[in-house]
Amino acid sequence: MGDTVYLNGAFLPLAQATIPVLDRGFMFGDGVYEVIPVYNGQAFRLDEHIQRLQASLAAVRIRNPLTTVAWRAMLLQLIAENKALQDQSLYLQVTRGVAPRDQAFPPASVAPTVFAMSMTLQTPSTALVQSGVAAITALDIRWDRCNIKAISLLANVLLRQQAVDEAVAETIMLREGWLTEGSSTNVFVVAQDKLLAPPKSQHMLTGVTYDVILELAASHGIAHLVAPVSEAQLRSADEIWITSSTKEILAIISLDGQSVGQGQPGPLFQRMYALYQDFKNQYMRHTR
Ligand code: PDD
Repeated sequence: MGDTVYLNGAFLPLAQATIPVLDRGFMFGDGVYEVIPVYNGQAFRLDEHIQRLQASLAAVRIRNPLTTVAWRAMLLQLIAENKALQDQSLYLQVTRGVAPRDQAFPPASVAPTVFAMSMTLQTPSTALVQSGVAAITALDIRWDRCNIKAISLLANVLLRQQAVDEAVAETIMLREGWLTEGSSTNVFVVAQDKLLAPPKSQHMLTGVTYDVILELAASHGIAHLVAPVSEAQLRSADEIWITSSTKEILAIISLDGQSVGQGQPGPLFQRMYALYQDFKNQYMRHTR
């Protein structure tokens, strides 16, 4: 955990960063967030994360308190302040601000609360990448606006704990017989040498990593199809992958106790993992 955080215009030690209990983030989970990986001091796909933040803010009608230029400057300074950390995972959140408790929006004069911090980025170990991980399935009990990166994450918390309780890495969700995503990841499936991905919809968060994977598939001639993935396709898949900013790409080798494919990370996973690492390294060199 980096010691210096950002709160409402100032950089300060974490221990001094406090907010009033009437903050609507605390009262209602009324806010949105982002998680941005930083490799070797370079924020990965920073503009895409700032764009998604803007889309989340617009969707919940919170005025964006900072310009794109100001977001960039603040986050770059936060990275610099915490440069003692090797790779970083930036967390930022914006809430609708502090006001007497009432579900209705507060007056426009109430300023959004802006908080950002940096943690050590812990990508999966080489051993985990090579072995793959297990997952379970569960009904998607969330709301109909999962495309908003909202801080109200109670359903995700319960779903993720289900995975922890069963000593597996992730809970993969199904809604009316269709794959949506993991509790904090997107999900890809490989069937008959083709990569399948559920399309963007209000039932899943469009991951920045999800977009990178599809771009890499397109630019390297990997057969892929963005279309709804049924429970039957998920259960009979040759490969299943989960993706996120912090997990990058991980292979699921067992689902609800059943082996996925050969029960080890498959050939397309190996290829995409290598492409992703190359892309990351190239990208970092370019933005230097
Ligand atoms: N989670 N779907 C959900 C529900 C998520 O929470 C996340 C990310 C993703 C992947 O998005 P991205 O590739 O942009 O990280 C998909 C973050 C890491 C989190 O909540 O910690």
